[in-house]
Amino acid sequence: MSEQYDLIVVGSGAAGLSVALGSGGGLRVAVVSRGVAGLDGATCWAQGGLAAAVGQGDSAGQHAVDTITAGARHNHKSAVRWMTESAPDVLRWLLAMGMQFDTVNGRIALGREAAHTFPRILHAGGDATGAELARVLREAAMRQSWIDRHEFADACEILKHGNQAVGVLVRNRRGEQMRLLAPSVVLATGGIGQLYRHTSNPAEADGSGLALAHVAGAELVDLEFVQFHPTALSPRADDPSTQLPLVTEALRGAGCQLINDQGARFMVAASSQAELAPRDVVARAVYDQLTRGNRVFLDVRPLGDRVRAQFPNFVQICAQRGLDPRVQPIPIVPAAHYHMGGIKVDLHSMSRVPGLYAVGEVACTGVHGANRLASNSLLEAIAFGKALGERLAQRGPVAPITRVDPVVGHAARAESTNDQMVLGRLRQLMWSDVGIVRSSESLQSALGQIQVLERRCLAGAPVLRQLTTARLIVEACLRRRESLGAHYIGGATHAHWSPRSGQAVA
Ligand code: SIN
Repeated sequence: MSEQYDLIVVGSGAAGLSVALGSGGGLRVAVVSRGVAGLDGATCWAQGGLAAAVGQGDSAGQHAVDTITAGARHNHKSAVRWMTESAPDVLRWLLAMGMQFDTVNGRIALGREAAHTFPRILHAGGDATGAELARVLREAAMRQSWIDRHEFADACEILKHGNQAVGVLVRNRRGEQMRLLAPSVVLATGGIGQLYRHTSNPAEADGSGLALAHVAGAELVDLEFVQFHPTALSPRADDPSTQLPLVTEALRGAGCQLINDQGARFMVAASSQAELAPRDVVARAVYDQLTRGNRVFLDVRPLGDRVRAQFPNFVQICAQRGLDPRVQPIPIVPAAHYHMGGIKVDLHSMSRVPGLYAVGEVACTGVHGANRLASNSLLEAIAFGKALGERLAQRGPVAPITRVDPVVGHAARAESTNDQMVLGRLRQLMWSDVGIVRSSESLQSALGQIQVLERRCLAGAPVLRQLTTARLIVEACLRRRESLGAHYIGGATHAHWSPRSGQAVA
């Protein structure tokens, strides 16, 4: 069965819905999502805010400088500049759709975050910015009769005719396959956090979009740059979940301290900036404590009752775990958080495959360089997504696609228990060998083990997508021999920390 569109968007987070809404009504648009449109993907989980240099004395130029400094100067300078200059337009667009940002005395409040030289972070609902953004975009998308939602649908393959992308093969919950055809296919499938044992990312962020793009012939770049957030809520010993609630770094910005189970404030020895050191420095110090067999906590008690008003989302998350941050330190672990690398695209979000575009975390516009500056991801997703939608709309409706090459058969099978087992093994492997601290030995070992797992899978097994992406990440790590940004090469040997026991294992 086939359906014809002018534009297909795979993914329904901020990036995907910004493309769909940005196209403005002149096109027939399909939005494919693995869950409920607008509610799957990482956007609704974002606790940080949206960076925009709109405060007094601030400028897009200074925002660009901060972004490039955080990115270890590995950034694409023109893309950074374009993004920071787009922020006022993004704000106007969101406000027109009804986004409720936090205000002080009737004006939008601008918060300050580590590595931003000016207060320029807009929040909504305190630490619930992503949820408010997702609400606004979802409600706007639901109002448009020209957007068709294909929910609970898994994109298995990019359809091509010759070199041109012409659609997507999707499988629904009943296992039925359908061809969605269009001359413009946009991947907005998010990140790769679910390839790791611990992540702040939801289930959809499993790297399958990168594998689809790779099979379709797109170029993937900077895959070695994976950002680990230093503080996610530590799981209970019996909790197998991969996605952990984020403990926002704004808490450290507000004066909360990291301590180990002996009560030592270890960040003081690790960096002159202590808890306010860059994210990768803090993540490595936390990881170091864990590999020594210590547990790590965020001590929120200095905030007292203020924590309720300033961080309601965090308080609620703690309460669900039976924890009260006003009276007890909160156990934390680092977690895979954001992927700077992705499908190489130009300033117009075009990949090297004609007709195939990428936006948001799955794309590599180069704005984040080797390490993302906090709160830049929502801005990037919306700015590039909206601009792409507007540009595609200028072309107007197109003739139906009539010719499609035979499918390759990637992810042709339904998911099996073996897929789940292989994925569990892969996550442990990525965590211990391709994680916060890497070595050439750990990477070589990971590569060998992933290749074995790939050989053990049947052709068309869905987990081959995750294995493909993981292998490409490891290969990228091996090519970059020096540490840069979030890619950190440590000693030849390192302990493997067991997340279940909290113990270091040789
Ligand atoms: C945080 O609030 O700690 C995360 C924000 C971000 O990653 O941009």
